Amino acid sequence: MLGFAERGDGDEPLPKLLAAADPATGGVLKAAWARREIRGKRRELTTFHRPQDGGRIVLVGLGPATSYAAEGARRAAAEAVKGLRGKGAASVGFVLRSFTAPSVDGPTAVRALVDGAVLGGYEFVRYKAKPEAGVTTATIFADGPVDAALSSALAWERTLAEAVLWTREIANLPADTATPARLAEEAQRVGQEVALKVTVFDEKALAEMGCGGILAVGGGSAHPPRMVVLEYPGKTVGGRAPPTVALVGKGITFDSGGISIKPAPAMSYMKFDKSGAVAVLGTVRAAALLGLTPRVVAVLCCAENLPSGASYRPGDLVRTFNGKTIEVLNTDAEGRVVLSDGLGYVCRTYHPDVLVDVATLTGAETVALGDDTAGLVSTDDRLAAALLEASAATGEPLWRMPLTDYHRELVRSDIGDVRNSIEIPLAGMLTASAFLEAFVEGTRWAHLDIAGPAYTTITTRRYQPAYQNVGAVAFGVRLLTTFLKATGG
Ligand code: BES
Ligand code: MN
Ligand code: ZN
Repeated sequence: MLGFAERGDGDEPLPKLLAAADPATGGVLKAAWARREIRGKRRELTTFHRPQDGGRIVLVGLGPATSYAAEGARRAAAEAVKGLRGKGAASVGFVLRSFTAPSVDGPTAVRALVDGAVLGGYEFVRYKAKPEAGVTTATIFADGPVDAALSSALAWERTLAEAVLWTREIANLPADTATPARLAEEAQRVGQEVALKVTVFDEKALAEMGCGGILAVGGGSAHPPRMVVLEYPGKTVGGRAPPTVALVGKGITFDSGGISIKPAPAMSYMKFDKSGAVAVLGTVRAAALLGLTPRVVAVLCCAENLPSGASYRPGDLVRTFNGKTIEVLNTDAEGRVVLSDGLGYVCRTYHPDVLVDVATLTGAETVALGDDTAGLVSTDDRLAAALLEASAATGEPLWRMPLTDYHRELVRSDIGDVRNSIEIPLAGMLTASAFLEAFVEGTRWAHLDIAGPAYTTITTRRYQPAYQNVGAVAFGVRLLTTFLKATGG
C-alpha cells in the first residue's frame, strides 16, 4: 500500500515511490499514470494485480499535499483496509515513507496508519451467519532503522485502537443483551483483566445510598439499574501521588423516552444511548493497559428508560444522592437524571481534581454541531483547552459551547432544586449542561455531549471517514485516553 498526493493537471512525472513499485506491475502502473487514470484524489483506490506472484499493489490518494495531515493518513489507511474487505486480502503492508510529510513525522504517521488500519477494518459482525472476511494483519514498512520513537508509537496506538474496537463491540450490542446488569458484568470482567477495583451498586444498594435519580429512570424496566465504579490507581511519580481524574458516563441501555415516549422513527438508535458509559469503561481499561499516570475513577450510570406501570412520570420530584431534588417535567430528559447521582457520588466520595462526564445527552447537540462533532461545555478554560488539544491530536472533533447564568436560571425549579426540562426548544445542550453543573462540587469539570458522534447511521456513513463503521464508533476513547496521558504523562 502506497499513499501519494494529488497531482496537478499536467503530465507530472511519476513520484519516486510509485516508480519503484512499477516494475512489479509490469509497467502497467507507469502507463496508467501517463494516461492520468490515477490522480491521487482523497478516497481514490487503485489496485494493480502483480502478474508474477498474484499479490497486489494498492495506491491510495491522499488529496492535495498542501492540506495533508495525520488525519489524511488515518483516513487513507482506513479507506484501503475497508476497500479490501471481501476481496480475499488477509494482510496489508503500508510503505511508511509514502505517508510521511514535512508536517507528518514518522511516529505520527505510524499512529495514524495503525488507527486507520485497525479502526477501518472493523465491522460489527457478531450477529452475521457468514461475515465477509477482512484484513487481519497489517504491517508497516519503515525504510530506515526502527527507532524507539517509531516502535513506541506503534505499541501505544495498537493498544489504543484495539481498545476502541473492544468498546465498539459492547456499544453496538442491542438493548436486550446489553442490560444494565450486563454492563456491570463487563466492568467486572475488565476489573479482572487489568486489575482494577470494581464496585457494582444494584437497585438495593442504590436505594440505601439515596440514588433516587438512577432508580427513577430505571423504575419502568424489567432490567434493574446499576451504578458501576471502577478505580485505576495510577502511578506515583517522584514520590508524588497522582492526580485523580473522574470520568462519569451516561449508560441508558435503551431510551424509549419513557412516559414522555419518543416517536417511532429512529428509536432503534436509542440502544446507543449507553455510549457515554461504554466509552468511559473503554477509557479506564485503556488507561490501565497503557499504565498511565493519573488515578482514574470511572462511574457508569446504567438504566433502561421504558414506559410501564412502575415508570417515573412527568411531575415527579426525585431526591438524588447529594440531597438535591429534581422536578421531572419530561421523562425523556433522563440522561441528566441518572448523571445527577453519578456526579454527586463521585464528587463527595473521591474529591477528584478533574471531572469529565460523557453522555449522548441531547438531540440539540446533533442539531447544533452535526453527527461528527461533540459539544464541550466547561467553565474551566485550562481543562477545555486540554480536551480540545486531545481532540486535535486524535481527530475526534469537539467544539466548545458557552454556559452562562441565563442557562442556570432556566433550569431552576419552582418546587425543587432543578427541573430536568424547560419544555421550550431553546439551547437544549446548554440547559442540560447547567443542570449537570448543579451536581458538581469542588472540582474542575467538563461535559462532553456526544449525542451526534456516538454512532454513525447508514445515511451519513459515506460522508464520514472510513474509520467510522456504521453503528457505535466509541467516540471519546482515543480522545479521553490522550487527555489522560497529557494530564499525568
Ligand atoms: N438520548 C437522548 C438524546 C439523543 C437524541 C441522543 C438523539 C442521540 C440522538 C436524550 O435522552 C433525550 O431524549 N433528550 C431530549 C431532552 C429533552 C426532552 C429536554 C432531547 O434532546 O430531545
Ligand atoms: Mn431521552
Ligand atoms: Zn437519552
